[in-house]
Amino acid sequence: RRTLLRGLGVAGLGTLAGCTSGSIPSIDDEETVAPRTTVSGDPDVQATLTAAPGTVSPAGSSARNWLYDESFPGSELRATEGDIVRVDLRNRLPEETTIHWHGLPVPNSMDGVPDVTQQPVEPDEAFTYKFRAEPAGTYFFHSHVGLQLDRGLSTPLVIEEKSPHVEYDREYTVVFDDYLTQPPEPLEESSNGGGSSGGMGGGGMGMGGMGGGGRGGMMGDLRPPYAGLLVNGRLPADPATFDVKQGERVRLRFVNASSATAFRVGVAGHELRVSHADGRPVEPVPVDSFVFGAGERYDAVVEATNPGAWEVRGQAVDGDERPARAVLRYGGASRNPTRLSSWGRTLQYGDLRAKRVPEKLRGSPDRTLDLTLSPEMGGSYGWLIDGQAYPDADPLQIQEGEHVRVKMTNRSPVLHPMHLHGHFFRVGDAMKDTVIVPGHMGSVTFDFLADNPGEWLFHCHNLYHLEAGMARVVKYV
Ligand code: C2O
Ligand code: CU
Repeated sequence: RRTLLRGLGVAGLGTLAGCTSGSIPSIDDEETVAPRTTVSGDPDVQATLTAAPGTVSPAGSSARNWLYDESFPGSELRATEGDIVRVDLRNRLPEETTIHWHGLPVPNSMDGVPDVTQQPVEPDEAFTYKFRAEPAGTYFFHSHVGLQLDRGLSTPLVIEEKSPHVEYDREYTVVFDDYLTQPPEPLEESSNGGGSSGGMGGGGMGMGGMGGGGRGGMMGDLRPPYAGLLVNGRLPADPATFDVKQGERVRLRFVNASSATAFRVGVAGHELRVSHADGRPVEPVPVDSFVFGAGERYDAVVEATNPGAWEVRGQAVDGDERPARAVLRYGGASRNPTRLSSWGRTLQYGDLRAKRVPEKLRGSPDRTLDLTLSPEMGGSYGWLIDGQAYPDADPLQIQEGEHVRVKMTNRSPVLHPMHLHGHFFRVGDAMKDTVIVPGHMGSVTFDFLADNPGEWLFHCHNLYHLEAGMARVVKYV
């Protein structure tokens, strides 16, 4: 193997030094071993990425945004499992920035969390990210500074398998997003709500509805006006079209790159065979739809056995009524799609069976963190993990080699897509990196192996909640 040889040859000393310095636990699953050492050696994939103001036009009319290499969403970065990837980030924004490789267990110093894993990259400065593309999967990367992701600074990242466990003839990456027409601003609503008349109430997304229609200030969240929900940067008036051939198996890599929207997703006229959750392979599950929160990904295979033009639909589970739409098309059909008429059977986390789970995560944990997710009380807008707001919050301390259990209870009416950096976790029988904790005392438990030393952010991937304090550092001590 080209890349393995290169790793052992050129980077041999660094790699060995890294491996012998700690007591890295042995786990049975090589797929979940984190590439935790800094890589040296020549890159297999190299890119220069410029973050700069640019123009987007999701359906004719255009707006100014902040973009990577002037594209929106950014043009997909691809590598093969095991590749050394090097990305030179150039900052041409008027603010500092970083890149976070969402879901990928990179070495801590490459994780892109400002003031935790690196100094942010100042305007007109540059930073080089380098890591091994492992394990294969569907990921994305984005700025981790403030609300920059919501300005357009996100890009799909696909790491191809050497031997995929699902067969497919063609693939498309399908990025869902919520699109702002003006620069995002942090939420600072008082608890009586009712403030901004332009707010869409789309930010809260309580899974079972929020009762109050989503305008309720502290609980309901308000967001700046946005123009609608997007697929691959397009509004429904001018949708992305996925052309395929009759009889093909089509792998769709769904990415929720939104700042605050949980989408329900389905493809009219087709069953979805879900094959990966957050990039991790699962036993294929046939469903009609799934729900995913900001930061989650699903891969699904559809069989092109029903010629026509079909709506690929994503709808906010709470908030905006207007769907996001793309078109799956084959057999000589026009572009006007048949609409999805019902959501049918929706994927549940309990349906997911990871192909492999580290044996150690089957047993009882060495440490349990019992955390509440709650709004700040007393007039100020804030979101707390166990009563504390980031960045002042205490780190959550763990030790290398531990099996850590995290139990989250949501004392708010809105859902929180919680994301852990640097690790995959077991939730039910799935391995994931982001999981929705439903509102109204919803509770989710996940387990992870502390196998990637460093300081890692754990946070809500609703950017407005993150900005309002909903994060903790998980620190190896
Ligand atoms: Cu998409 Cu802190 O992550
Ligand atoms: Cu949240």
